[in-house]
Amino acid sequence: MELLKEKIRKEGHVKGQGILKVDSFLNHQLDVALFEEMGKAFAKRFAGQGINKILTIETSGIAIATSTARYFDYCPVVFGKKYVSLNLDSDIYSSDVYSYTKQQSYKIMVSKQYLNENDRVLIIDDFLANGKAVEALMDVIKQAGATLVGVGIAIEKGFQNGGALLREEGIALESLAIVDEMSEENGIVFRD
Ligand code: G4P
Ligand code: NA
Ligand code: NA
Repeated sequence: MELLKEKIRKEGHVKGQGILKVDSFLNHQLDVALFEEMGKAFAKRFAGQGINKILTIETSGIAIATSTARYFDYCPVVFGKKYVSLNLDSDIYSSDVYSYTKQQSYKIMVSKQYLNENDRVLIIDDFLANGKAVEALMDVIKQAGATLVGVGIAIEKGFQNGGALLREEGIALESLAIVDEMSEENGIVFRD
């Protein structure tokens, strides 16, 4: 998606250890108009497949998921919760996520009320790196007996292995921008 790539070129900052900072439009301040375009792009790529639910993970995935849901017929967004709260139902699906950046595991939780075997689910997230978050969401979908239709990612880091693993598994993965390289010499290099 050209608009997203332009935004990354203009406002993205490469940090050490392969981290791309995009706080000005995706992770802290949110460019809502861009989100709408991303939502439209996902809706187009996953059209006609009966998607009736979008599953994401807090925090950054939620806004993109919401913009995407607008372009499907009645399609709520459900997000995996990372923090236990008193008002979360006890009847939950949960799965462990190992975060490479944080070097520790955490749990994501989804109430059984909001995901079941009748759901045809699109997973949406902001970044795909090693794919651990997406794997946990896929696990939750499996526990629910729901159907995974595909995975939509805003920015895939093609130099980490999450994308390759999902594609090998035959999962319909659509990334709006794939960064294959980030270096001082070559800057940010996108896959076409
Ligand atoms: P993985 O899920 O693909 O295995 O990646 P990892 O554990 O390494 O990612 C941890 C968090 O960092 C995730 O957000 C992920 O979206 C984000 N992330 C990974 N690589 C980058 C990057 O290059 N740039 C930015 N900006 N984020 C990256 P999270 O902890 O779930 O946080 P949030 O959703 O609350 O923002
Ligand atoms: Na995220
Ligand atoms: Na993030």
